[in-house]
Amino acid sequence: MTNAAIIKESMEYSRIQVEPVAGSLGAEITGIDLANDLDDGTIAEIRAAWLENLVVFFRDQNITPTQHIAFAKRFGDIAEDPVNDGLDEFPEIVPVIKLEHETTNIGDIWHSDTAYVETPPMGAILCARELPPVGGDTLFANMYAAYDTLSDSMKEILSGLVGVNSSAKPDVILTRKARVKNKRQEEAEPLINEHPVVRTHPETGRKILYVNFGHTLRFRGMSDEESAPILNYLFRHQVKAEFTCRFHWQPGSIAFWDNRATQHNPVNDYHGYKRVMHRITLAGDQPH
Ligand code: OGA
Ligand code: MN
Repeated sequence: MTNAAIIKESMEYSRIQVEPVAGSLGAEITGIDLANDLDDGTIAEIRAAWLENLVVFFRDQNITPTQHIAFAKRFGDIAEDPVNDGLDEFPEIVPVIKLEHETTNIGDIWHSDTAYVETPPMGAILCARELPPVGGDTLFANMYAAYDTLSDSMKEILSGLVGVNSSAKPDVILTRKARVKNKRQEEAEPLINEHPVVRTHPETGRKILYVNFGHTLRFRGMSDEESAPILNYLFRHQVKAEFTCRFHWQPGSIAFWDNRATQHNPVNDYHGYKRVMHRITLAGDQPH
């Protein structure tokens, strides 16, 4: 058993404070400065809080890109983004930017990051660098709850299904249109991978509903049309308000989400203003 699992069972934190922000998921972690070198016990508590709450938030952190990278590496290996380029000086960090004149923002629909690759990310650590005066919050949703609240009959149907996930659904292409001009995206074939519709979390052992509006095209062996009624139901069901939380960013805010057990949706309500975020993605396993 890992340290994280032991701490999670006891649900007691001695090195950090953990305050849930909503009933279904999300917690703010206080009492910690991420610019410091953190000991293994503190990292284990953060990991336990992250597994328990699915997305954790930190406020008033003043970290450099180098410290951001060092913090991320305490949780796993950094993954390369298959679609977006990293910063020149820090290729591990992907800038997530919307400029004043732009009307679309990256990821502006419900999604789990890059479900269309063979081994989608375990998580991501997003740090606010420049924010609009108001707006630009991010919504998160709990995919354990989405699965758990399905009927037994629906769970039975879904247990045999495999989802076909693509980097090129029309809605997702729109969200990137204004910014990403790199060759891989403009010219490359779409990335497509199949993953079970219900996956098991490799750390908690719990079942997760693993389709998402941004990337899932259809069920394997069925046409788009045949898949649509159930998929559209699941896309609505999985982001019901009671499965979500909303994070309001301030300068120095950081969100660290479990990309296996959550989806997110950055709200595009700040036209005319600039928003700059730095994202580091952590490598994950093949879903099963
Ligand atoms: C992402 C993303 C959320 C945000 O970086 O994967 O969806 O709030 N961003 O910018
Ligand atoms: Mn995203």
